[in-house]
Amino acid sequence: MPRRVLVTAALPYANGSPHLGHLLEYIQTDVHVRARRLAGEDVIFMWAVDTHGTPIELRARREGVDPADLVARMHAEHAQVYRDFGIESDIFYTTHSDETRKHAEFIYEKMQAAGQIEKRVTRQLYCPKDQMFLPDRFVKGTCPYCASADQYGDVCEKCGHTYNPSELKDPHCAICGTTPELRDSEHLFVSLGRFEGFLREWLNSTKLQSAVRNYVMRWVDDGLRDWDISRDAPYFGFSIPGYEGKKFFYVWFDAPVGYIGATQKWCDEHPDRASFASYWRADQSQDTEIVHVIGKDIVYFHALFWPAMLHAAGYTTPTRINVHGWLTVNGEKMSKTRGTFILARTYLDHLPADYLRYYFAAKLGPEQDDIDLDLADFVSRVNTDLVNKAANLASRCQKFLVGRLEGKLGPIPADAEPLMAKAREALAQVPALYANFESAKALRLAIEIGGEFDAYITAQEPWKVVGKDPERARAVCTAGMWASKVIAAILKPVLPKWAATIEEGLRLPAPLDFVNAIEPLPEGLVVGAYVTLAERIDPKKIEAIVEASKETIAAPAAPEVPAYTVEPLAAEASIDAFAAVDLRVGKVLTAARVKGSDKLLQLTIDLGPLGQRNIFSGIAASYAPEQLVGKHVVVFANLKPRKMRFGVSEGMVLASGAKDDAITVLELDPRSLPGEKIS
Ligand code: MSP
Ligand code: ZN
Repeated sequence: MPRRVLVTAALPYANGSPHLGHLLEYIQTDVHVRARRLAGEDVIFMWAVDTHGTPIELRARREGVDPADLVARMHAEHAQVYRDFGIESDIFYTTHSDETRKHAEFIYEKMQAAGQIEKRVTRQLYCPKDQMFLPDRFVKGTCPYCASADQYGDVCEKCGHTYNPSELKDPHCAICGTTPELRDSEHLFVSLGRFEGFLREWLNSTKLQSAVRNYVMRWVDDGLRDWDISRDAPYFGFSIPGYEGKKFFYVWFDAPVGYIGATQKWCDEHPDRASFASYWRADQSQDTEIVHVIGKDIVYFHALFWPAMLHAAGYTTPTRINVHGWLTVNGEKMSKTRGTFILARTYLDHLPADYLRYYFAAKLGPEQDDIDLDLADFVSRVNTDLVNKAANLASRCQKFLVGRLEGKLGPIPADAEPLMAKAREALAQVPALYANFESAKALRLAIEIGGEFDAYITAQEPWKVVGKDPERARAVCTAGMWASKVIAAILKPVLPKWAATIEEGLRLPAPLDFVNAIEPLPEGLVVGAYVTLAERIDPKKIEAIVEASKETIAAPAAPEVPAYTVEPLAAEASIDAFAAVDLRVGKVLTAARVKGSDKLLQLTIDLGPLGQRNIFSGIAASYAPEQLVGKHVVVFANLKPRKMRFGVSEGMVLASGAKDDAITVLELDPRSLPGEKIS
C-alpha cells in the first residue's frame, strides 16, 4: 500500500457554471477518494478552478470587470456547488495564484535551460480594431473546403474539415466583424519530440486503461508535434518571463500546474500533515501515488504534455490517469433546447445531491464508456434499488424492533448465516472495486445484499411470529439490522449521510468502515427510532428540472411591458439649469443591502480621478446587490451630501420608474470612463 496518495479531478473552467457533465467526474473522484480513505489509505484530494485564457478575458471586457474579479466570483460559485454536492476535497484552489505562477515559471525556466523551448515566428490573424491576435474561435468566415458561410476558424461544422484560421475565405473578427490582417508574431514552442523516449517509457510504466495506453502510443508513433505554449496580449494569464505584459503562457501550460499550486498551498497551510516534496518531489522509493481523473477530451494534455513538463523539471510524474466517458442525457448530447443541459445548481434546486451521486456511481465502471443519464431510469433506479431494496430493509426491521420489541437487539439466528457469509464475502471485494473505479459493481453488491435479506425477512414473517415467539422475531430483525450495517458501509463513499444515519441508529461505537462493518451487533442493545434513509423521487421533480433548464439557457422571452403612467413634462428650463447639474460616469464597485431598510442599497461608486462615493439608492426592491457590481451608471455628482439615518449619501444614481419594484438604473456602455462628464 503506498504511503501517500494524491488525487486530482480536472480543473473546471471558470468561464462557465458547473453542469451535470462536470459532476459526473467530480462525483467519481470524490467516491474514489472517500473509499480509499475508508480503506485506511492516506489520500489527499487537490484541485482548483481553471482561470486563464481568452474566453475569460473577453467575458471580463464585455462585463466591464477585472478578469481577476470575474474569476474570484466564479470560483466562489463553483466552490459552493461542489460543497453542496458533497465533494470533499482538501482544497479547491485557483490557478490564478502565486503558487501556480511560481511553479509554472520554474518548469518553463528548466525547459528553456535544457534547450527544450524553441522560438518561431508565426503568421496569425490580427484584428486592427480590437488590437489583438484572434484565436481560432474568434475568427469566422467561409469554409475553404465546402464553402459553407459563417464557420469558425478551426473546424467547419457542415463538412467537418479542420483548417487554420488563415485558410478561411473572407475571414472576419467574431467580436467586431472587421476583416483581420495577417501579422507576424514570435511564439514559443516545446519540442515534444525530444521527450519521445521518456514518454514511451512513462506510458508503459504508468497505470492507464489499456485502450487509453493504446491510442496515446499511437499518437507517439504518428510523430510528436511541437506545442505552442505562448499567447499574445491581451490574454488573462501569467506573463512569460522575459516577455512581461506581452506574451502569456497558454492556459493549458499553467492549468495542470494548478494541481501542484493547490498542493503547495495546502501543504503550506498544513505543515503538520506532509511536506510538499513528499508529493511532487518524490523519488520512486518514496512510494507516492499521483492519480489524475479526467474526461476523454483532455487525454492529450494529461498523457503527453503534462508528464513531459513534470519530467523536464524533476517533479513526480503521474502514476495513474483514469479516463471516464462523456455524459449524455436521455441518450443524447446534452441539449439546451431540450432542457437536458442541466446546470448543477438547477438540479440542486429540485432534488438532493445524493440521488445523483448514487446514480452516477451506480453506472460508472473502469472503462471510458459514455454514461447516460436516462431521466426515467434515474427515477426508477433510485426508487427500486435505493428505496425499495436498501432502505426498506432497515426501515421495516428497525421500525418493527422499536415498535414491537422495545428496540432491543437479539442474537443472530443460525439460518441467516449463509446470507451473512455471502455479505462478508461481498464486502471483502469492495475496497479493491472502488480503488479501481468500479463503483457500479460495488453498489450492485450492496443492493444484492439488500434484496436477499429483504426476501429473508419477508419469508420469516417476524410480524406473524412475534406473538408466539418474540425472541425469534427479534433475532430475524437483528439479522436485517446487521445487513443494513454492511450495506451502509458499502454505500458510505457514495452516500456518507446514509452511513451516518445507520451509525447513529445502531449506536455504533466507531464510524463504519469496510472492516468493522461485519462485527456483530451487541445483544440487548437498544436501537434508535428509524430515520428516513431515502425517499422516492417524484417524477414531477424531473419535469421541473428540465423545464428550468430550458429557461436558464434559452433566449430570454421578450419582457412583458407593465402598465405604467407617465408624468407630464416639467416646465421649460434653460440650458443653464441643466449645466448646473454635474453628471458623471460612475462604476459600481460594491453594493450591499442596508440593515433596517427594505428600500435602500448602499453603493460604493468609482468616479475615476474624482475618487469614490458612498451613495444610498432606493433600488433594493428592483436589484439584488450583485446585479449592480461592475455596472457603469450615471451619477448626479454635485448633489449636496445628504445625512441619512444610515450614513451620508454623496450623490445620486439616475434611474427610471416610480414604483419601488420596477426601477431600472440608467446604464452606460462599459467602455465609458469613470469620472467623465456627461453632457
Ligand atoms: N479546464 C480544463 C481542464 C484542465 S485540467 C488541468 C477543462 N475544463 S472543463 O470545465 O471543460 O472540463 C472539466 C472536466 O469535466 C474535464 O475532465 C471534462 O472531460 C469533464 N466534462 C465536461 N463536460 C463533460 C460531459 N458532458 N461529460 C463528462 N465529462 C465532462 O477541460
Ligand atoms: Zn475585431
